[in-house]
Amino acid sequence: MITLGIESSCDETGVALYDSEHGLLSQALHSQVALHADYGGVVPELASRDHVRKITPLTERVLQDANKTLDDIDGIAYTAGPGLMGALLVGASFAKSLAWSMGVPALGIHHMEAHLLAPLINRQTDALGLPFVALLVSGGHTQLVHVKAFGDYEILGESVDDAAGEAFDKTAKLLGLGYPGGPKIAEQAEQGDPTRFRFPRPMTDRPGLDFSFSGLKTYALNTVQSLGPLSKQDIADVSAAFEIAAVDTLVIKCRRAIEQTGAQQLVIAGGVSANTRLRAELTDKLTAEIVYAPLALCTDNGAMIAYAGALRMLGGAQENLSINTRPRWPMTELPAI
Ligand code: KG4
Ligand code: ZN
Repeated sequence: MITLGIESSCDETGVALYDSEHGLLSQALHSQVALHADYGGVVPELASRDHVRKITPLTERVLQDANKTLDDIDGIAYTAGPGLMGALLVGASFAKSLAWSMGVPALGIHHMEAHLLAPLINRQTDALGLPFVALLVSGGHTQLVHVKAFGDYEILGESVDDAAGEAFDKTAKLLGLGYPGGPKIAEQAEQGDPTRFRFPRPMTDRPGLDFSFSGLKTYALNTVQSLGPLSKQDIADVSAAFEIAAVDTLVIKCRRAIEQTGAQQLVIAGGVSANTRLRAELTDKLTAEIVYAPLALCTDNGAMIAYAGALRMLGGAQENLSINTRPRWPMTELPAI
């Protein structure tokens, strides 16, 4: 089965073609980072308009790259939520109308489930032994999920305030590093002195699997304000202290989740799972096998939507012609695959 995947939940237009027999055929991505740079954050209306501009040429490109035509597509998967309403509607309307015109099914996909499944693209689904634990860490979410079966998710813990990626982005902004902050902080941290500052590890001194990252960001703000004009070394040192504390906090909670569930594998997914320190520390400090996607499949992309769509459509999932997007959508409401 060949599925076309369309991702448009935030500031990236991602399109891909996935073949359930031969794996990922092609993918194309357009980032809107430059478009929103002057505004200090994603402007929803500008995001929607840019998705409208890019979605057709990107679809044409993935077909061309894979040497396929529309007639080769068996189904279209699109991100139905969570995300920005207008941005989601662009992908959903495009996917539904194209699918209707071609006489193939369209299916709305949960963006975080797609992140969770991304490490399985181009592997066998039995590469993961159920049940396992997943750490979903992106710009909008930080969640520990007990995956009992594909589609059967129990939230073990989540952030009570900022997501981990959001804390990276806000800290990078106050250091003048630009967006997205995660890779910029990681790059600076490599030059930093890890011993100069010690940032807190929020909510690790009490039991439980919830996270809080807003205090860490405030701690970074207070540190920056106490330093006055920042030197290059200050920026690198604050970046190192922040990254070490954020990663340490995630590692402590992941270890607890593994102990609590007895799971043998920990999947890490979402933009922050691209972080090299996080991958290395988890591998070093946990007994469970750490599983993650290749870098290009950690941040938002169309391939993960095409893949999740293929799994669900092959499992028999269907929907009617109406367009249902869900800006907020708990993963626990999904049906099993
Ligand atoms: O999954 P994603 O592309 O979009 C959302 O669904 O939110 O995640 C984006 C987030 C951003 O906050 C970005 O700063 C963070 O992932 N990120 C990283 C790294 N690469 C991206 N955070 C830490 N280290 C990285 N290398
Ligand atoms: Zn995402």
